[in-house]
Amino acid sequence: MTDKAAVDLTGAAKTMLTTLYLKSLDAQFDEPVLGDTFARDAVGRLDFDWSDLKVTAKWAPIVTVRTALYDMWAREFLAAHPEATVIHIGCGLDARVFRLDPGPEVRWFDCDFPDVIALREQIYPTRPDYELIKTSATDPSWLEKIPTDKPVLFLAEGISMYLTQDEGTALLRRVVDRFDSGEIQIDFYNWLAIKTQKMHMLNRRSGSTLHWAVNDPADVLDEVPGLRSVDDTTLFDAPTFDRVRGSFRTAGAVTRAMPAARKSLQYHRFAF
Ligand SMILES: C[S@@+](CC[C@H](N)C(=O)[O-])C[C@H]1O[C@@H](n2cnc3c(N)ncnc32)[C@H](O)[C@@H]1O
Repeated sequence: MTDKAAVDLTGAAKTMLTTLYLKSLDAQFDEPVLGDTFARDAVGRLDFDWSDLKVTAKWAPIVTVRTALYDMWAREFLAAHPEATVIHIGCGLDARVFRLDPGPEVRWFDCDFPDVIALREQIYPTRPDYELIKTSATDPSWLEKIPTDKPVLFLAEGISMYLTQDEGTALLRRVVDRFDSGEIQIDFYNWLAIKTQKMHMLNRRSGSTLHWAVNDPADVLDEVPGLRSVDDTTLFDAPTFDRVRGSFRTAGAVTRAMPAARKSLQYHRFAF
């Protein structure tokens, strides 16, 4: 018998085990990129054979550089808007709400598939003004229940690639239509990353399929009226990449010389 939470996930939902595990490995580095002790503790609460993921600590920056950047951007948004609504889709078991620990005027929604949220309920505590939403983000109805009285931060980390372009752009349009003002902070794979998806170790073992490629902020601006680009960068150009040490840092220097590979993992920030 074990009192750990049992894990039974497949496809896109399973991918959040890899991101969680890589964050937990990073938290054990002497010089972590993210230093997420919530991830480290969450891994210990799950009944799962982590060796099954076939990932090692050297791959941690592929996730932690991104997560640390979105933490930074989210903190900037919340500093400018202490009264805000945060909608965090495809949250998986990411502990952003605990890492950022937002102020009392912030209302926070974490959204993912029902199986993922059920696991989340078992391993993380609740907190005031914090709600879990069990739904596919592509279902048009759930967003209509979110209050519109405050500026919104719509944060989508590691989910866009599991949506089709039509699903993704329809979702972003619904956000811009529903809320008066806010930011969309979202990452994308470019055409090369989507085309070579079978080669990606992080995706391959989950059995999921990647769809939506974005090559430039203009791809999104053309499809979602009302947005303007605030910032965009890539895995290898993000300010948080400066925290990376070892062989992954060297890989970054090599990849920056190859334009399509350099832009394969893109981090975007839009306002409306
Ligand atoms: C790669 S994981 C990223 C998890 C988390 N954002 C992180 O960075 O650790 C992808 C997450 O997106 C979720 N996801 C994929 N498609 C979704 C959809 N249509 N609606 C809600 N969540 C979805 C998966 O269940 C999974 O938790």
